Amino acid sequence: MSEKKIDEVSGMETTGHDWDGIGELNSPLPRWWVWTYYLTILWAIGYWIAMPAWPLVSDYTRGMLGYSQRAQLSDQIAAVKAGQAELIARTAKASVADIKGNAELLEFALAGGRSAYAVNCVQCHGSGASGASGYPNLNDDDWLWGGTVEQIQATIQYGIRSEHDETRANEMPAFGRDEILNPQQVDEVSDYVMALSQNPDLAKTLPGKALYKEYCVDCHGAGGMGNQELGAPKLSDGIWLHEGGKPVVVDVITNSRSGMMPAWVNRLDAVTVKQLAVYVHSLGGGK
Ligand code: HEC
Ligand code: HEC
Repeated sequence: MSEKKIDEVSGMETTGHDWDGIGELNSPLPRWWVWTYYLTILWAIGYWIAMPAWPLVSDYTRGMLGYSQRAQLSDQIAAVKAGQAELIARTAKASVADIKGNAELLEFALAGGRSAYAVNCVQCHGSGASGASGYPNLNDDDWLWGGTVEQIQATIQYGIRSEHDETRANEMPAFGRDEILNPQQVDEVSDYVMALSQNPDLAKTLPGKALYKEYCVDCHGAGGMGNQELGAPKLSDGIWLHEGGKPVVVDVITNSRSGMMPAWVNRLDAVTVKQLAVYVHSLGGGK
């Protein structure tokens, strides 16, 4: 390999290696590439000196700049907390109405409410707050216990049929089970209830109308308009808390169903409850 060999076709020097007549051209890397390579080595050495780099037995080289991601993160968290402390203090003093009227507090409440909702409420009301049978949809403007932001706040604070003294509470009698109505009467009044939303003109002619007037109107109101003081659902709008059509209506009237919603006043701080009320109110159906 001492003498230079030139490839006849390309005119380039070869390495002298030869495999069954196939030669290897000697084409070194371009200069710029080699220099970039040396630069990266220099950069790496500088980096080792400046930044944390090499593991030692029980420690690591900390670098002259003393940088630490953990310290940076705690600084960032402390900065966010300090920024929020002011907003939290203002939220604590404000009423839910004040919060709604202040763009900055409102934005903070919607963000805080959304994340508190995701932790505490999704398991019953669903991630999109659209509910499920027995668990009300919080997006529509149909409210059992009232849809003003103050009413929503009270519902969240004290719950519904919860263990709290100030809970919202009202029980519908189990008309069939307790033999207040016989099965035929339950059937008749169920037909009336179904007709209220499906065919109000027909409803007026049904035998169940008289039963409704006698047994139901005190809570559910004339024509099934509902009563939010009593948490008695509106029956004329075709929005059902307990979905499933007439068989479910028959079952509700026979056995009564009483949804339970926990009180949050002792589980969540007052600021979070306010934020949740504002958030739920904002979902679309707030009054
Ligand atoms: C264990 C299940 C459960 C959890 C958890 C729960 N809820 Fe409820 N919630 C219910 C039920 C059931 C009702 C309906 C009660 C009834 O039948 O009157 C309800 C009703 C409500 C209402 C009243 C709706 C209306 O139409 O008046 C609001 C507002 C509400 N929940 C908000 C929340 C918020 C906010 C959270 C989270 C902090 C939450 N709920 C967590 C079960 C739950
Ligand atoms: C003492 C008040 C009260 C009386 C009287 C009463 N209800 Fe109710 N009713 C309620 C309450 C409260 C609920 C909601 C139950 C729940 O939260 O699960 C309800 C729920 C219902 C529902 C389910 C509505 C839905 O959206 O799923 C139907 C149907 C119903 N009642 C029909 C009747 C009929 C028919 C009568 C008369 C025979 C009657 N109720 C009498 C309080 C009453």
